[in-house]
Amino acid sequence: MDRVVGVSEKPLLAAATGHRPSRRPVWFMRQAGRSLPEYRALREGRGMLESCFDPAMVCEITMQPVRRHDTDGAILFSDIVVPLKAAGIDLDIVAGTGPVIAEPVRTAADVAAIRRLEPEEVGAVARAVSLLRAELDPTPTALIGFAGAPFTLASYLIEGGPSRTYTHTKAMMYGDPQLWHSLMGRLADITVTFLRVQLEAGVQAVQLFDSWAGILSRRDYETFVAPHSARVFAEIADHGAPRIHFGVGTGELLASMGQVGADVVGVDWRVPLDEAARRIGPSKALQGNLDPTVLFAGDAVIAEHVARVVVDADRAMAAGAIGHIFNLGHGVLPDTDPDAITRAVELVHSA
Ligand code: CP3
Repeated sequence: MDRVVGVSEKPLLAAATGHRPSRRPVWFMRQAGRSLPEYRALREGRGMLESCFDPAMVCEITMQPVRRHDTDGAILFSDIVVPLKAAGIDLDIVAGTGPVIAEPVRTAADVAAIRRLEPEEVGAVARAVSLLRAELDPTPTALIGFAGAPFTLASYLIEGGPSRTYTHTKAMMYGDPQLWHSLMGRLADITVTFLRVQLEAGVQAVQLFDSWAGILSRRDYETFVAPHSARVFAEIADHGAPRIHFGVGTGELLASMGQVGADVVGVDWRVPLDEAARRIGPSKALQGNLDPTVLFAGDAVIAEHVARVVVDADRAMAAGAIGHIFNLGHGVLPDTDPDAITRAVELVHSA
């Protein structure tokens, strides 16, 4: 990993843009943090949000999985609620639960109180990006920034935390579309600012996580969500960095999600990549989609499933997809054996 590599030689960027990568690029959502003992040691006694605003810590945690597994992508260590916190919303990230919002957003007054994010409020993130570029520029690994998509952010703000049914979110969406669109517009503004700060500081690709969009019908997605995600993608297009879009359980939405402006569509494990390519249509790269639980099933099973994803991806490319970035179908689960991840990366690189 110590030879100097130009941006065009980064396999992840090549695959995302329809060029031929020197090896099949692979990274894993939630590869930073989670399963790594060196992460747990570093985080000992330090809050999650506090860590996200400490540039040296962000840099070190982002680098840990890259060093250990030789991934082609380094995902910035942060969280989707970081820009909301920076914009003054009272929230915390509770270990084992996720984001918890002090006062859930339910009324017109609550929505009106959500203000814009000022770029300097996420200056710590920009500083972390600079530190990371200095570390990563001599390597084949590309730095990926990210943000939560307006719908997924709205679901946390309205529910007050993680949810199974999204009752309050859907009640606002169906019951008061005007208020809904006003909230989504404000969240899109925050998301654009957060992504632009990362891009201006030097991230080389971005992923917009609409993790929970899969709970919507395609019609509702197109009516209530797609216009706002499309605006986010349009307002960062001038940077020219590849834009990745991902959600869980989005098999029925893939065609629509492929049309909101991303260059790469992330696919969860439920839909084989060749079938995903048919749903999405040509001229996009695909990312995915090993089931995260396969990493618990032993080496032989991991090898079998990695090979299957690679075959499906090659079929997808024969059918018009312009590239493949290997990933999981969702994030690394907390109890995953780090050695299983390293092994999977080796298998992808030698496939
Ligand atoms: O690879 C990485 O870990 C990069 C950093 C990253 C985190 N969150 C750190 C984190 C990224 C890319 C995210 C994105 C994120 N956060 C998403 C979208 C990705 C997805 O999984 O769909 C979502 C929905 C969130 C919201 C969130 N934050 C949840 C649901 C949780 C709880 C997860 C759990 O099981 O603990 C978090 C907390 C969180 N974000 C942790 C980390 C490392 C764990 C907190 C800790 O270590 O104390």
